[in-house]
Amino acid sequence: MKNIVIIGGSKGIGNAILLQQLENNMVYNISRNAPEITHANLKHFSVDVLQDALPEIEAIDTLIYCPGSINLKPIGSLTIEDFRNDFEINVIGAVKSIQKYLPVLKKGTNPSIILFSTVAAKLGMPFHASIATAKAGVEGLVKSLGAELASVVRINAIAPTITETSLSANILRNDRMKENMIERHPMKGYLKPEEVANLANFLISENAKSISGQVFEMDYGIVTFKI
Ligand SMILES: NC(=O)c1ccc[n+]([C@@H]2O[C@H](COP(=O)([O-])OP(=O)(O)OC[C@H]3O[C@@H](n4cnc5c(N)ncnc54)[C@H](OP(=O)(O)O)[C@@H]3O)[C@@H](O)[C@H]2O)c1
Repeated sequence: MKNIVIIGGSKGIGNAILLQQLENNMVYNISRNAPEITHANLKHFSVDVLQDALPEIEAIDTLIYCPGSINLKPIGSLTIEDFRNDFEINVIGAVKSIQKYLPVLKKGTNPSIILFSTVAAKLGMPFHASIATAKAGVEGLVKSLGAELASVVRINAIAPTITETSLSANILRNDRMKENMIERHPMKGYLKPEEVANLANFLISENAKSISGQVFEMDYGIVTFKI
C-alpha cells in the first residue's frame, strides 16, 4: 500500500485521482474543503496551502499538487496582483509543498511528484498571459528538480487542455460553448478529469520508473496538430 499526498483532492482532477487511488492506497488529502467521500484509507486535512502550515505526514511515496487557476484577460486588464496570485497558487504553493515533504518523500518507495501545467504554456493563446507565465514556471521547476533529484525522486507534469471541472465551468457553461470547444480540438473532444487521473496514476506507478523531468500534453491535438 502506497502513501499518497494529494494537495487539492476535494474536487476536479485531484478528486478523480483520489477516487481511483483510495481502494489500494492510503491517501492524505490537503485542501480547504473536505472531499465528499469518507473512506478508511482517506485522511483529510483542512488547509489553505498558501496561508497555513502544511501537516506533518510520516510516510510518503507520492506527492501530487493540483491547485491552479484560469484567469483569462487581455494584458491591459491583468493587474500585477493577478500575475502574483497566479504565480503564488501555481508555483509557490507547489514549491512550498515540495520543500515540506521532500525529506519524507526521499525515504519512500519509487517516490515521485506530479505537478500540473496547461496547453497554454506551449501554444500561444490570447488572454492567457498570466496563467501561461505561471505554468511556464511549473514546467521549469519540473525540468530543474528532475535533474536535481534524479535517481532519488521522479517529478513530472501533465499539461491538460480544457478539462471538465469547476475551474473551467465558466468556459463550458452551456451546450454551445461545449460544442465549440470540441470543434476547436483536432481530435474533437476535451478532457474529463478521470482521463487526466489515468495518466497521473500511470506516472506514479512502477511502470513509469524510467520517466522523470517530462511534461505530458493531453491536448486532443490542439497543441500538436494543425489540420
Ligand atoms: N480544468 C481545466 O480546464 C484545466 C486545464 C489546464 C490545466 N489545469 C490545471 O490542472 C490542475 C487541476 O485543475 P482542476 O480543474 O482540477 O482544478 P479545481 O477543480 O479548481 O480543483 C483544484 C483543487 O485544489 C484545491 N485548492 C485550490 N486552492 C487551494 C488552496 N489555496 N489551498 C488548498 N487547496 C487548494 C481545491 O480544493 P479547495 O477549494 O477545497 O481548497 C481543489 O481540490 C490545476 O493546476 C489547473 O491549472 C486545469
